[in-house]
Amino acid sequence: CGIVGYVGSQSALDVVTAGLKRLEYRGYDSAGVAVLADGGLATAKRAGKLVNLEKELSERPLPTGTTGIGHTRWATHGGPTDTNAHPHLDNAGRVAVVHNGIIENFAALRAELTERGHELTSETDTEAVAHLLAEEFSSCADLGEAMRLVCRRLEGAFTLVAVHADEPDVVVGARRNSPLVVGIGEGESFLASDVAAFIAHTRSAIELGQDQVVELRRDSVTVTCFDGSPAEVNAYHVDWDASAAEKGGYDYFMLKEIAEQPKAVADTLLGRIDGSGTLSLDEVRIPDGVLREVDKVVIVACGTAFHAGLIAKYAIEHWTRIPCEVELASEFRYRDPILDQQTLVVAISQSGETMDTLMALRHAREQGAHVLAICNTNGSTIPRESDAVLYTHAGPEIAVASTKAFLTQLIACYLVALYLAQVRGTKWADEIRAVVRDLASISGAVERVLETMGPVRELARSLAGKNTVLFLGRHVGYPVALEGALKLKELAYMHAEGFAAGELKHGPIALIEQDLPVVVVVPSPRGRSVLHDKIVSNIQEIRARGARTIVIAEEGDEAVVPYADHLVRIPATPVLLQPLVATVPLQVFACELATARGNEVDQPRNLAKSVTVE
Ligand code: G6P
Repeated sequence: CGIVGYVGSQSALDVVTAGLKRLEYRGYDSAGVAVLADGGLATAKRAGKLVNLEKELSERPLPTGTTGIGHTRWATHGGPTDTNAHPHLDNAGRVAVVHNGIIENFAALRAELTERGHELTSETDTEAVAHLLAEEFSSCADLGEAMRLVCRRLEGAFTLVAVHADEPDVVVGARRNSPLVVGIGEGESFLASDVAAFIAHTRSAIELGQDQVVELRRDSVTVTCFDGSPAEVNAYHVDWDASAAEKGGYDYFMLKEIAEQPKAVADTLLGRIDGSGTLSLDEVRIPDGVLREVDKVVIVACGTAFHAGLIAKYAIEHWTRIPCEVELASEFRYRDPILDQQTLVVAISQSGETMDTLMALRHAREQGAHVLAICNTNGSTIPRESDAVLYTHAGPEIAVASTKAFLTQLIACYLVALYLAQVRGTKWADEIRAVVRDLASISGAVERVLETMGPVRELARSLAGKNTVLFLGRHVGYPVALEGALKLKELAYMHAEGFAAGELKHGPIALIEQDLPVVVVVPSPRGRSVLHDKIVSNIQEIRARGARTIVIAEEGDEAVVPYADHLVRIPATPVLLQPLVATVPLQVFACELATARGNEVDQPRNLAKSVTVE
């Protein structure tokens, strides 16, 4: 969910709704605002996207005030209805609260409140907090103190922001787990789940830590721990500006982000490999001595980041000879994995907030493993809680379906693999030197793919009426196939599945029927030519059964030509780096197909970009 708070001299409603617009990627099931004005509290909320709320506000404007809060929701407790939308109020309508996360002891708190005569009107856990805050405030008359007292009673993960009509110049926030950042302006202060919400006003920010409460006034920001003691905070300057989070002439953020991939890839490599091919990963603060002792790597991640992890396994095992497991973060801790001080756990997350991944890394650290985060969001929870971090430099990714972050996650994974190989001195020294050289030109290769996407778009449009698309790959092409299928599910709402091409004959081939589109990611004919030959046979097998083959193959690979109904060319790369170029046509394909089907590309139904619940 996205949260915004403001206190200053501008219209709070304008600042808050503009902020919510920038946070809509975090959830868009419903939205709401509360403004303190004329000694009271005015609220508006609506199910559905922010435009519904904006329409409501233009039909029934709120009084103008300079203190306010807002929320855009991804439903957990209670469906996405007007009533369940945030903010939630107490019975007297004096306190308004917005919330991100889940309060686990909510049933007990609700029962207790009902017993004391409170009437709760929604199905949400947030409403209970509004009532508790009202109770505490009635005895201490200090919203900051009331918030600390309430937080000490809450279990689970939550970020809360509240205002009280009796303290009209204060916004109070509390953070456990999901992020909350403060923006410091001239005579105004901001609070949001992401700096994107206030970057148009200030680039000076403070990040709240775990279990901290912030009291925001025009000219002051006070941060305390839940127990009331003063808290240490991390102040920083945001080094990207508002335009980085705007569409810049593209119809969708996703199109802009696909186009930004060559730069994102180059930026992520920048300064990490010197002229002699030596890697220096400054942010990785796990001593080389510890990395030399690592006897197992375990990668945990979700969604697209998980696919980056699957590809990393091939690189890590081949270059370092260290066994590597890749596991969905949501499954990891429940199977009692074997971990110790010699295990390196790599947590990959664009947002740095995904709760499943966070819980997996906490479990890993409890077992004594070293945790390295690969993350795109500076100062987010996952890198903060890891032993080390390697940031991807993709810039803000707004579209829910991940594109440029994925490519930069791949780069970061290769860097980790190469760095491990470097500190351990492996027998693949020549190959590694060659790969490091090839990485330098990979951004140009991604650029070349983007320049030739016209026919892919046309093909995608022609397939808009289909129900199913299958994706096949071998070796690193297999996770690429999975990612291609995921993109199509997320964006086009089509049945799409990725298979290892060799597994086809063990079941999935039964799905092949006349004219079924099947995308095949073909490995390079150079290097492991055996893989290439096998997949050419697979293409023949499916074509013989009626499939319409969409073949993604390297420039100069003539062997596939007779069997390709549609041929998409990608530049030749070293075998392990091919996903960097092979994924791009699949992203374009999914985006175009979704548009042709009339879907919302940046905000697909039911999804959210940062999923801060398990
Ligand atoms: C959500 C998004 C996916 C994303 C996944 C992991 O489910 O919809 O696009 O891949 O989370 O996100 P992360 O921020 O941890 O990379």
